[in-house]
Amino acid sequence: VPLPEAFRKPLTVPPVLKPTSSAGGTDTYEITQREATAEIIDGLRTPIWGYDGIFPGPTLVTRRGRRTVVRHRNELPVPTVVHLHGGRNAQRHDGYPTDQILPMSGAHMSAHHGGGDVSHGTRTYEYDTDQRAATLWYHDHRMDFTGPSVWRGLAGLHLITDDEERALPLPDGDRDLPLVIMDRSFAADGGLRYPSVDKDLVKTPGVTSGYEAGVLGDVVLVNGTPWPYKEVDAVRHRLRLLNASNARRYRLRLDPAPDGVPEPFVQVASDGGLLARPLTHPYLDLASAERQEVVVDFSRYRVGQKVRLVNDFGEGSTRQVMEFRIARKAKDDSHVPRTLSVIEPLDPGRAVRERDMVFQSKSIGDNHGWTINGEPFSVDHVHAAPRLGDIEIWNLYADFHHPIHLHLVHFQVLNRGTKEPGRFDHGWKDTLDLRPAEQARIITRFDGHRGKYVFHCHNLEHEDMMMMGNFEVR
Ligand code: C2O
Ligand code: CU
Ligand code: CU
Repeated sequence: VPLPEAFRKPLTVPPVLKPTSSAGGTDTYEITQREATAEIIDGLRTPIWGYDGIFPGPTLVTRRGRRTVVRHRNELPVPTVVHLHGGRNAQRHDGYPTDQILPMSGAHMSAHHGGGDVSHGTRTYEYDTDQRAATLWYHDHRMDFTGPSVWRGLAGLHLITDDEERALPLPDGDRDLPLVIMDRSFAADGGLRYPSVDKDLVKTPGVTSGYEAGVLGDVVLVNGTPWPYKEVDAVRHRLRLLNASNARRYRLRLDPAPDGVPEPFVQVASDGGLLARPLTHPYLDLASAERQEVVVDFSRYRVGQKVRLVNDFGEGSTRQVMEFRIARKAKDDSHVPRTLSVIEPLDPGRAVRERDMVFQSKSIGDNHGWTINGEPFSVDHVHAAPRLGDIEIWNLYADFHHPIHLHLVHFQVLNRGTKEPGRFDHGWKDTLDLRPAEQARIITRFDGHRGKYVFHCHNLEHEDMMMMGNFEVR
């Protein structure tokens, strides 16, 4: 896809899904996973796998305190698993990689590993929704097949709101803009190209599948549209950024920066919701699965000005992300307060133990694989078995880039190597961008639920190549 195609289509926002019932304290939703086509590249039809047939899937917006039930129906030709990333939910509703929903048709197909809790055609996920307001996302999590499934479209947003967040004077309504960023590659006929599905594609220009890199595409999509533009009023906007790419990391910057504002991103939230206080940044780093919410004040620009969101980690076509066009002056009664929330720092002195987790590549037989403490993923191997309520410190070590994600819990970053936490490590995190040869120390409390959960590298190709482990809260 030639870059001159860029900035020609408007940004769209995934539709908000309506509950099919809201009886008692429970909101019930229904989602059908099905094959569909989407016009992503002008004039071409791209076959996708979509939640309700769209890519990204519909957005769920749920309120803290109301239970959320999502009934999924699998009309795809393959088994699926739904995981709510960032959700604090019971083990059987977390989307364990072997807890598969077999296809509606062909229920005889038993492609599951490890004898998980398999259901036929449909599965009902129950979410407590007893957690802070935050930008979560749901995506496929099938054993060995998460990369291809997400690449074909199985990802969507799930926003949790609460009273604390709603009381803040942050920009809202259509000034609260979700931006789901993903890279993809397309064949000449519009089909998505995923190198490990079609082996020869590794050689395709624009598609990189280095063993270390994971799968990278040459087209940057925002909410499913390549390099879109968005007309914005010259007022503050809240941007909810999610990196839903399989493997690509971004360093996002506004080009040009507004005159006299070297740090135009005012970060208000990260993976686990509001920060205690806003932080300003000149750029934003986002690894796979990370979220950052920032407020940008477009009144700092002239009406008529075009402002690009660029990716300093990209090359060629992947240096561009999207364009904001400053349309008109408008009234703005939003602002970013100096205090956003209260975050209780977890005290390292209360940690009952400390563990090392080493994320590294290893030869397994004739193949390269990715391991944690030398172990490729196995449903039976438990790396850690904290008791419910235990506070633990984990030392994470990486050989290459590995965005490390823990299910069930959120954590705080104590330090990176001998240094302070990084610029983007504040607040509650569920995914940490670990860089080559880096060590980070995180602290978390294993509470909420008992059971066996996974933690893994969120480079989806590394995850599928076994860089995943279990912890079991007892
Ligand atoms: Cu976003 Cu285990 O995943
Ligand atoms: Cu997760
Ligand atoms: Cu990795």
